[in-house]
Amino acid sequence: MLAQGNKLNVKDRLIVALDVSSIDEAKEIVKDLREHVGMFKMGLELFASAGLSLFEMMREEGINVFFDGKFHDIPNTAAQASRNITRQGVAMFNVHATGGGAMMKAAADACKETAATNKDGKRPLLIAVTVLTSISPDVLKDELQVGEEVMAYVTRLALLSKNSGLDGVVASAKEAASIRKACGDDFLIVTPGIRPQWAATNDQKRIVTPSQAIKDGADYLVIGRPITAAKDRKDAAQKILEEMETAV
Ligand code: C5P
Repeated sequence: MLAQGNKLNVKDRLIVALDVSSIDEAKEIVKDLREHVGMFKMGLELFASAGLSLFEMMREEGINVFFDGKFHDIPNTAAQASRNITRQGVAMFNVHATGGGAMMKAAADACKETAATNKDGKRPLLIAVTVLTSISPDVLKDELQVGEEVMAYVTRLALLSKNSGLDGVVASAKEAASIRKACGDDFLIVTPGIRPQWAATNDQKRIVTPSQAIKDGADYLVIGRPITAAKDRKDAAQKILEEMETAV
């Protein structure tokens, strides 16, 4: 298992999002960046087109993968999916915290049991999505009928995730301090929505810089376009690592 964020070096804390639809595109980015980042995030976009060849590529290339599949189902189905994804050898995967404590516990138990039978005993980190950043406070209140403020709701779901045996959550840097206070130092916070000052914001609304995210308490940073769409990807990743280093 990977150690807690602040015990890792900055390279291990940088996760690059492979938001592409073909294995060939993913491979090209991996080839450029494999020496510069600790992990690659692959999600449903790539899985829906490439299927299991995504994991074959991962094993061939010997890279760490965060499988962003966001499982959300009845406990038995979430547990079996967790079992199967653990067998693939990913380094990290996730479930929705709103699937509830029983679902998260079933997934965490399945992940631990399955990993214990792996040759090297390594198990993936299992983290929860609390509230998608695409859900606005109005949608939370009016459509989903959640009576709490976003920060309180996210923090409560993070604590539920911790108490259900998960390793951490995906959360914006702006929520990190509240989660850290509620869940303690050993709970991982994985943070997207990162933009260096020199990069385009794209469609992200609530952004922070890499150094600010580290200062706010993020263990891992998930960064896509500022690196993958850069003219020189290696150089972009290197600049981000240098900025992260100034904040640890
Ligand atoms: O290109 P960019 O840096 O915006 O990519 C961020 C990645 O993090 C994308 O894969 C996006 O889906 C993911 N993500 C996010 N906000 C969340 C959860 C995941 O941006 N709340």
